[in-house]
Amino acid sequence: MRIAVFISGRGTNLKALLDAAEKPSFPGEIALVVSNRPGAPGLQFATDAGVSHCVVDHSDFATREDFEAALNDQLALAKIDLICLAGFMRILTAGFVDGWKGRLMNIHPSLLPSFRGLNVHERMIDAAVKIAGCTVHFVSSEMDAGPIIGQAALPVLPDDTAETLAARLLVLENKLYPECLRVIVDKGARLSGGVVQFDTPLTDDKAIFNPHP
Ligand code: GRF
Repeated sequence: MRIAVFISGRGTNLKALLDAAEKPSFPGEIALVVSNRPGAPGLQFATDAGVSHCVVDHSDFATREDFEAALNDQLALAKIDLICLAGFMRILTAGFVDGWKGRLMNIHPSLLPSFRGLNVHERMIDAAVKIAGCTVHFVSSEMDAGPIIGQAALPVLPDDTAETLAARLLVLENKLYPECLRVIVDKGARLSGGVVQFDTPLTDDKAIFNPHP
C-alpha cells in the first residue's frame, strides 16, 4: 500500500509515521509527503528520509476545488492508496473526502467527539477536564469527525497548562498514529457500517483514573 502524508507545519507525526514505515516489517510505504505551506518545517523529515515530497500551496488556487484537483494530480502520479493527514490545516471539501472514503485518516489532539476544532488544549484546560487524549479517525466531511480507529488517554495534572498538556499529548499522538496506520494497512481493521471493526481486539482493560481511588 502506498501512503501519502499531508502536513502544514512542524511534522512530528509525519516523523513518527516515517520512522514506523522504515521498519522492514511495516506493511506499506510512505511514498509521498505533501505540504500546503512552502516553508513547513516538517518537509525536512521527508528530505532526511529520502521520501518524495512536494508543496501544493493553497494560496496559488482560486478555489478549494482547484487546490484539491492539484492534490489529486500529485496523489495519482505517486499512485497513492491511502492518505494520512498529520497537522494539515486546510479544510477538505465533501467532494475530496468522499473520493477518499475509508482511505483518508487524521489525528486530532482530543478524545473525539469532544473538543473538535482549534485551540483544543486551551479549551480542555478551561473546561478542567481530568482526562485528555488523542484520536486517530477516518475523515468524514464534518470537521474532526468520522469513524474512530484508535484513541490514547492520559490524566490532566493539577498544574498543567495548555502547553504542558499539549507536549504530553504529542508523545501519545506520535505513538498512536503509527499503530493505527499499521492496523489499517495490515487490514486488521476496516470500515464497516460507519464504524471501524477490528479482527483481533488490541485492547487491555486498564482503566485511567483521575483522581485515583
Ligand atoms: C497535532 O497535535 C495533531 O493532532 C493536530 O495537529 C498537530 C500536528 O503536529 N492535528 P505535528 O505537525 O504532527 O507535530
